[in-house]
Amino acid sequence: MDKVNKKENNKNIKKFYELDLQERLQFLKKETHITEQDSEIFQDFPKNFVFNKINNMIENAIGFIPIPLGIATNFVINGRKYLIPMAIEEPSVIAAASKAAKIASIKGGFLAEADNSIMIGQIQLVSRDKRNNKDKFYFKKERDKIKKIILNNKEKLLEISNSKSRSVHAIDLQLREISDESSNKMGYMIIIELIIDTRDAMGANVINTMCELVGSELEKLTKCTVILKILSNYSTKRMARCKAIFPKELVGGLDGVNRILYAYAFAYSDIYRAVTHNKGLMNGIDGVAMATGQDVRAIEAAAHAYASKDGKYRSLTKWYRSKEGDLVGEIEIPLAIGIVGGISSVHPYVKVSLKILNIKKAKELALIMIAVGLAQNFAAIRALADEGIQRGHMRLHARNIAITAGATDEQINIVANRLVQENNVTVNKAEEIIKLINKNGTNTK
Ligand code: MEV
Repeated sequence: MDKVNKKENNKNIKKFYELDLQERLQFLKKETHITEQDSEIFQDFPKNFVFNKINNMIENAIGFIPIPLGIATNFVINGRKYLIPMAIEEPSVIAAASKAAKIASIKGGFLAEADNSIMIGQIQLVSRDKRNNKDKFYFKKERDKIKKIILNNKEKLLEISNSKSRSVHAIDLQLREISDESSNKMGYMIIIELIIDTRDAMGANVINTMCELVGSELEKLTKCTVILKILSNYSTKRMARCKAIFPKELVGGLDGVNRILYAYAFAYSDIYRAVTHNKGLMNGIDGVAMATGQDVRAIEAAAHAYASKDGKYRSLTKWYRSKEGDLVGEIEIPLAIGIVGGISSVHPYVKVSLKILNIKKAKELALIMIAVGLAQNFAAIRALADEGIQRGHMRLHARNIAITAGATDEQINIVANRLVQENNVTVNKAEEIIKLINKNGTNTK
């Protein structure tokens, strides 16, 4: 084929994003191992969550993956009762949080607080002007000169950053100097940080827009080069913290409290345990985050960075004994979340989850999430320090195994109970039990 014809032909081949849903599925059937039957699950849209909606949310959409949505109960946070939606595929998590919340409620529930919604936007300024083979920023005098220009124009820069947004405002501009710590040795850079109050929004989009606006002006003012213009997900000016007391009688008395303090000692002092400990509490935070349409990746990244704030990765919670001998838990993490903007106003499920919570401010959502995190951590370390988590976990997991093995709705509980009784929660065993039930009725012994 000659060059012109090849070009013409390529023009006629649609890119994946140009295909409609049917064409995308046809393409997948041709290129992968999915069958006609497989592709049907991608055409089964709930009536309020149709393909067009999804296709407007992300690129190259073909469908959605449903995640179970449940309600954590018994939560009392700052004296108010909440029913808390959690979207999570892992069994036991919601039951554990609800049980922990019930125990905490005896001593008044969770006391939580959250900072204002202050975020940081970063603009990276470098100098590529060379002098004696060194860029200008190599010289402190040059860096100081540029910093002065920026600070002299602070008001103007803040005005520019706020020119496009009605509710979100940059309230300050600060400067930092850093130098490349990698082996590339790219030298010094000046980091201009916009301090932004995003109110009830998480704020990523508006912060990035502000950084880009200010970035262009900075290049004009300084004649230096702006490279990155982006929010920081390490939202340390937006912390949430929470405390709760768990009465000793309900955590196994003196010995039970002691065992939990050993569990905490392990997580505080060892990174391999700390990661799992923190994963457990993030089960709770992410569950609420998923149900309410938050950027879970941002929350996770910030939380884990904060876990290493003193140079060693540690537990995000703190546990100790009160004067009365009760168990006290505390947690603090950065939580950048929002209830306006993002998908919170377009995703039908998220809208209903937020309605269930009946909250008016993003801050309140932060209080809820942080309390669920603490509850989840309590539940996990209490179970781990006592009988272990597998018995309870397996009870729920057994239901999944029964379903996987083909149990009918009526058979699920019977099969799951038998699997647990026999301490053999496997698909093979479940299939065996189902066969017996189908042959002999429910008396399978
Ligand atoms: C499982 O999802 C979470 C746990 O592993 C947390 C922990 O070990 O603390 C149970």
